[in-house]
Amino acid sequence: MSLIPDDKAYVWHPFTQHHTAEAPLEIVRAEGVYLFDSDNKSYIDANSSWWVNVHGHGHPHIAKAINDQFKTLDHVVFAGVTHPKAVELATRITSKLPKLLSKVFFSDNGSTAIEIALKMAFQYFHNKGEERRKVVAMHGSYHGDTFGAMSIGQRGYFNKPFEPFFFDADYIDFPDCNNDQLILEQARSYFESEKVAVFVIEPLVQGASGMRMYSANLLDQLTKLAHDFGTLVIFDEVMTGFGRTGKLFASDFCTEKPDLVALSKGLTAGVMALGLTIASEEIYQTFLSDDASKALLHGHSFTANPIACAVACANLDLFEEKSTWDNIQNIETWGEKFINDLATYSNVCNTRRCGTITAFEINTGEGNTYFSDIKKQAYEFFLERGILLRPLGNVIFINPPFTIAEEDYSKITNSIFEFLASFDD
Ligand SMILES: Cc1ncc(COP(=O)(O)O)c(C=O)c1O
Repeated sequence: MSLIPDDKAYVWHPFTQHHTAEAPLEIVRAEGVYLFDSDNKSYIDANSSWWVNVHGHGHPHIAKAINDQFKTLDHVVFAGVTHPKAVELATRITSKLPKLLSKVFFSDNGSTAIEIALKMAFQYFHNKGEERRKVVAMHGSYHGDTFGAMSIGQRGYFNKPFEPFFFDADYIDFPDCNNDQLILEQARSYFESEKVAVFVIEPLVQGASGMRMYSANLLDQLTKLAHDFGTLVIFDEVMTGFGRTGKLFASDFCTEKPDLVALSKGLTAGVMALGLTIASEEIYQTFLSDDASKALLHGHSFTANPIACAVACANLDLFEEKSTWDNIQNIETWGEKFINDLATYSNVCNTRRCGTITAFEINTGEGNTYFSDIKKQAYEFFLERGILLRPLGNVIFINPPFTIAEEDYSKITNSIFEFLASFDD
């Protein structure tokens, strides 16, 4: 029986204008890199189910972790209580992040991980008795849909009704035309003229604004500049974390390290809702006091849910296997070849790759626009061919689970070539 009538009657979907939206795809099962609809038609999960899935669906090691943990300890309050998988995850994740990041706070998703990083940064200065309120971010950034996260992200179409409630942020431009020096001057002018509390950035790749990439060298210079003016730095690694950039974290490409990092998405292999905010020891120390109000008075019902933590630990096991890194390297090689092959298409521009993320723009004459008609056209074209690939406007990108076989990667790229040829003059 079709899910659509009850879905239409009772469900409100994310980022969806229900007045005009087509009926959603009914996905009833998943295995490896494939999703299956109610007619048992398979789709390659070419964007890893909103960029979260890293080891394919139904991975046996992840399944075992969920099952074992459910039988051992399913959930417990995390205030005044600890449990083995939270401690194991905190210990293991900090050993893989820059050394100065030593304290892990748990939440449920990428937006909350960012929200908490902001609260830590603001309260760090509050606890020190220093008045710093300003945030500097980058144009085009996306950090989530809660109020703090929206306040520091790109303003406009997606959040217009809420703008009167946002707090103040300044934005540096995105470095997209050899303008690094200009960006650094912009950043300096903000850092030196205002009491900036925090500089927040998606390291190396801006995800939602179209998989836009920039250099680790510029990121290093921006981070150093912020630090020179006493500003804290948040790396939002919600999308870039867990192998997407070719290393475990984007910060692994940098010599200047952040004071706070937000993680989610690939953290649980894309299976459970979990977010982490990892803070430096120096930040943590400012919260220690005989005054209880100097503590971080924040928490969620599902903070450090043991099943989510167990899955995150199992995910780390898989990242400790050579085969995961071999798979990542293969995707990088196939991605590079794909980029070279795209050069022959006249309607393609701005090809780019960072690690396992390969992206390009279809030249529609409208620039990089999220609402380009090409998005819908491409989405339907790929669905017909058994590929679930959601373009970001006129930006087509592949960021598949790392377990994808070469044959399936080629199926995606061949379909893209077919799509491009269908309207190339
Ligand atoms: C860089 C970045 N930060 C934060 C978020 C928000 O994460 P969530 O959707 O889990 O709230 C996203 C989601 O796409 C993201 O890409």
